[in-house]
Amino acid sequence: MANNRKPGEALRNLKMSVHTHTPVLLQETIKALAVQPGGRYIDCTLGGGGHAAAVLERSSPGGQLLGIDADPEAIKIATARLEAYNRSILLINENFINLQAVCIKYDFLPVHGILFDLGLSSHQLNGSGRGFSFQHDAPLDMRFSPSQEITAADIINTYSEAELTHIIKTYGEEGCNRQIARRIIQKRPIETTLQLARTIEEAIGSRRDRIHPATRTFQALRIAVNQELEHLESALKQAISLLGFEGRLVVISYHSLEDRIVKQLMQRESKDCICPPDIPECVCGHNASLRLISKKVITPSPIEVHLNPRSRSAKLRAAERIINQDEYHKTTESLRFSIEVNAEGWRRPAMLKRLRQVFAAP
Ligand SMILES: C[S@@+](CC[C@H](N)C(=O)[O-])C[C@H]1O[C@@H](n2cnc3c(N)ncnc32)[C@H](O)[C@@H]1O
Repeated sequence: MANNRKPGEALRNLKMSVHTHTPVLLQETIKALAVQPGGRYIDCTLGGGGHAAAVLERSSPGGQLLGIDADPEAIKIATARLEAYNRSILLINENFINLQAVCIKYDFLPVHGILFDLGLSSHQLNGSGRGFSFQHDAPLDMRFSPSQEITAADIINTYSEAELTHIIKTYGEEGCNRQIARRIIQKRPIETTLQLARTIEEAIGSRRDRIHPATRTFQALRIAVNQELEHLESALKQAISLLGFEGRLVVISYHSLEDRIVKQLMQRESKDCICPPDIPECVCGHNASLRLISKKVITPSPIEVHLNPRSRSAKLRAAERIINQDEYHKTTESLRFSIEVNAEGWRRPAMLKRLRQVFAAP
């Protein structure tokens, strides 16, 4: 439970959060999650706790939130920010690849809504000193968590030219991948963000379009260091299995590689048959587990983009869990979890009572 802090720690944490993160598509997220009083929610990317605070506000009285972040600094910042709700929150420093295991460990399931707000917080981008941005000179780290083994410097300084080309091409969708990889090999060792940004400029010249020439390579490195795409796909599948009947899955992504994974998974999971179109009769046995909330992707208004330029590439997709009772029993059993499905759907008074006791513990 999130409140074993020493005196003065909250203040120190607040000082760390100078680079306050403005939550993106906030109203749209709350609406898509259909937040309701007494509901139980998971924020898989807690960050500065902006979305989490709004969820707690709207789910009061009785709402509960499990917040997860791979970055221990994010947990500290959010713990300070969400201090007022400390009886209703459980904040865990974990990678969301372990989402299901965390929920089982803390008996936090099924839930009414799960949010993923992918990417980086403003604190990570501007104040963490971990080399996520080429606007500030810092060591090439780029790990969300210090417990991860491989840093961006390891990749830059030890991978072969072919491997670097592949990463820059696949995760950065950078057309000049070969030139950049070749130049990196020539200039190694490269230890800092500015050294790398300069190397990329030397390889492909300065501004070709509206974005800085290093933008795509930095994105590629961050994705590779944190295995972001693999983790996202797995965590989304886990999230679906944790949602109760009509529970909502909401994902905000910031680049096309992430959005493609979210879109394809939601589309596939909203179909009863996923056989190739040329097969005359269905052989897949697939059952839809989601209903799309809105067929069109939700993007920020021009006013939001003006006030918070970081939001400009955001795309929100949302879906609702659909489930038949047989499947529900099967899913919950496989989670070592038995449940009474009553006329109201999936609420489980005994579990809610136990959770309240857990949350109320000092
Ligand atoms: C855009 S920020 C979230 C901001 C938050 N919604 C808010 O309103 O303050 C994304 C957060 O997700 C975290 N994150 C990214 N990938 C993660 C993963 N695989 N597991 C856990 N946390 C992750 C990052 O550390 C970062 O703090």
